[in-house]
Amino acid sequence: MKIVVTGGAGFIGGNFVYYLLKNHPDDQVICIDSLTYAGNMATLEEALKNPNFFFEKADIADREAIYGIFEKYSPDIIVNFAAESHVDRSIENPEIFLKTNIIGTSVLLDACRKYGITRYHQVSTDEVYGDLPLDRPDLFFTEETPIHTSSPYSSSKAGADLLVLAYHRTFGLPVTVSRCSNNYGPYHFPEKLIPLMIINTLNGKPLPVYGKGENIRDWLYVEDHCSAIDKIIRNGRVGEVYNIGGHNEKTNIYVVKKILELLGKDESNITYVTDRPGHDMRYAIDPTKIHNELGWLPETSFDEGIKKTVEWYLKNQDWWQPIIDGEYQKYYENHYGKK
Ligand code: NAD
Ligand code: TYD
Repeated sequence: MKIVVTGGAGFIGGNFVYYLLKNHPDDQVICIDSLTYAGNMATLEEALKNPNFFFEKADIADREAIYGIFEKYSPDIIVNFAAESHVDRSIENPEIFLKTNIIGTSVLLDACRKYGITRYHQVSTDEVYGDLPLDRPDLFFTEETPIHTSSPYSSSKAGADLLVLAYHRTFGLPVTVSRCSNNYGPYHFPEKLIPLMIINTLNGKPLPVYGKGENIRDWLYVEDHCSAIDKIIRNGRVGEVYNIGGHNEKTNIYVVKKILELLGKDESNITYVTDRPGHDMRYAIDPTKIHNELGWLPETSFDEGIKKTVEWYLKNQDWWQPIIDGEYQKYYENHYGKK
């Protein structure tokens, strides 16, 4: 099987590359990534030593380049992780989100139609459902929850989902879509909550908590997301959407305090800063469908996963130090300097 993984130099795509190479050693994995600020070849260093792994630097919105790659490899399955993925950046500069997340997806879909594939899988997010109120812990996102987005990021992801499903209905393209809750684990880019708090704690810097830190996210260890996608691309029903999540709801402030506890630091660096505009209150996934249909269950509890993640960042300073010393510095100063 030849599997294209777009966005494989990023956080979840990179973890998925390693998941495939480990669990399906006979498959060939072709990574397409344009190496934006979030893409990092250091993440793929080990993969590049594997003869079944291939890397192509290309923008998914570049039709000619994408068609050329499809011609070269004739892939069977496409798993699209490539995206602009940070809500805060989408608030500052929405346009690139539309280009990559929507136009990029449309180019991949056209390539799939033109060259023929057995499965196109769109990696989407629970953020397309908007948010849930804090005072209704009985409510969860199901696959039937209406799309109701809050940020330019989630709107662009929702647009892409609709396009993917339309290509199934209109052209019969064999597609699936997954909508996952917040991931955490190795190779997570330092701008996101968990790595940011770990790295700032290690560097003795303030820990910027938006608003009151009461917002709830439903955290899933990245390897569990990978195992779910793997099940969907092999056994999921064509034309279907699957929610992925493991019932690990935590407030942001709980997560920050947990990281401090694991690193043996007090809470004096916690700093409450201006809230994110339009900030979603709570995400919570109902994963009944993927469990019943595909037998998927997460294996890593939050306590175990956050411990493994903190240990990974402690051991892998070589991976994140060059990131925070580089271009990222400017984003950080610009974004948090104003708060
Ligand atoms: P990331 O930002 O860490 O990585 C994105 C990758 O895509 C990078 O390697 C980047 O270089 C690449 N990329 C960006 N634009 C590209 C383009 N035009 N052409 C080719 N490559 C491009 O993102 P992530 O956190 O790994 O998220 C991966 C996917 O999973 C995204 O589609 C995101 O919406 C979805 N998702 C993420 C989470 C989460 O918690 N991180 C949760 C649910 C769904
Ligand atoms: P983030 O990791 O950006 O993921 P998402 O917005 O896609 O859920 O943020 C997770 C939560 O943490 C979200 O409620 C915003 C909050 N947050 C902070 O409080 N401070 C920060 O510096 C960041 C980056 C996020």
